Amino acid sequence: MSGLIGDRAETIRRIAAAHGPVVRVPVPGKPFHLVSCPRLARHVLLTNNKNYRKSFDWKIVHSLLGDGLVTSHDEVWRHARAATAPVFRQEPVLRMAAALQDVVAEEVAGWGGVLPTGAATTRLALRAFARAALDVDADRVDLDEITRAVSAGLRHLDARLGAPVDLAARLPTPGRLRFARARARLDAVLYRWIDAAARRAPGPDLLSVLLQASRALPDAGLTPRVWLRDQLVTFLLAGHETVAVSLTWCLHLLATHPDAQRRAREGLPGDGEALGPWLGAWTPLDAVIHEALRLFPPVWSLGREAVADDRLGDFHLPAGATVMVSPYAIHRRADLWPEPDAFRPERFAAGPPAQGGAEGLTYLPFSAGPRLCPGDRLALVELKLALREVLRRFEVAPTRPGPVACEALISLRPRRELELRLTARAAGDPA
Ligand code: HEM
Repeated sequence: MSGLIGDRAETIRRIAAAHGPVVRVPVPGKPFHLVSCPRLARHVLLTNNKNYRKSFDWKIVHSLLGDGLVTSHDEVWRHARAATAPVFRQEPVLRMAAALQDVVAEEVAGWGGVLPTGAATTRLALRAFARAALDVDADRVDLDEITRAVSAGLRHLDARLGAPVDLAARLPTPGRLRFARARARLDAVLYRWIDAAARRAPGPDLLSVLLQASRALPDAGLTPRVWLRDQLVTFLLAGHETVAVSLTWCLHLLATHPDAQRRAREGLPGDGEALGPWLGAWTPLDAVIHEALRLFPPVWSLGREAVADDRLGDFHLPAGATVMVSPYAIHRRADLWPEPDAFRPERFAAGPPAQGGAEGLTYLPFSAGPRLCPGDRLALVELKLALREVLRRFEVAPTRPGPVACEALISLRPRRELELRLTARAAGDPA
């Protein structure tokens, strides 16, 4: 059993289980309609997506991400989505695998003993995204600066998203001032990267593509330089935080399930073997990654706001109402996923279940519809490479028994730093 101590995602799941497919949750100041039914999730995210925009919570997130892809709408969103989509298609992502593998090998070579897993996976994912997607070789000073600023920024946003009244929207609270300083430090690094990319020959990387797209912005009062910063900070954050937290959950689940860890080692390509065919094939490691994303979807809730009145099943939804589709609650429904709290990679032995048909969205770690995560392929390749490297080098074990407490804020992560014990494997150790 992957233990959970009471947290927000579990509370949402219990409310959904007790009250059915749509329920109005009367949180003071922020009432919302919780959707935990796969067919209604499909309605909101896919079939009637034009009626659903990002919800008010995204205005808080907007204070960090500006008009980046996550927080924009309409023409501004369409322009950025269309410009950046080619960077993350299958072939370009497979071409990024070599750069990802280099970073993964360098980072994991420094692991061993008691590993502060959150810090280690964050650094790995940040460096990997910078190198593979942006063609930026971030140095230690930049990485530390970004990590500190992002962590301060996310802490501030988490606190605002969780508070019944958003005081920081109106008052210069100490938290807001700290946030402004963190944002300024982050921006200084990103503007430096943008300026360096503008001086080099353009390539197929995301930074080059964004620079090109900034020369033909839609007429919405956007400044090219600020737009570039907004897109870059959005991709950088979305592109590393979720991957780091997924990798942490995968390692935790493998540490606590030695049989699954042994099976996941079977068939891993060895030194000198080509990685391409293995990356393209469905393997026991893919099943581990998907089962971890089912149990701990980093984006555990998807917030939307209804543009016009709508019917959600038997429920009348008024215009302006906030809707929360909960991948976490859907992924842990016993009628869809028997013994939903158990870690069973075998569920995904034949690949992930097809989505979008009559049964709706039963598995949606990357959302669905026009807002589907554009980085899903990159994330899955990166996770596979990182887990291969760890499993080849180390036996992974927990440092203490018992469940790991979860915290469901912007992403679903362990409440405290997760320490795991990594013991070096001898060259001849069996798979
Ligand atoms: C395991 C890792 C990841 C998970 C679980 C994940 C999950 C998601 C989800 C659920 C959404 C949709 C949010 C919504 O509908 O409200 C999303 C959007 C997004 N993701 Fe990811 N993501 C991951 C990795 C990445 C990576 C590697 C990138 C880098 C390219 C990325 C970039 C984005 C962006 C830019 C959006 C906004 C898309 C839009 O609104 O059009 N994500 N992600």
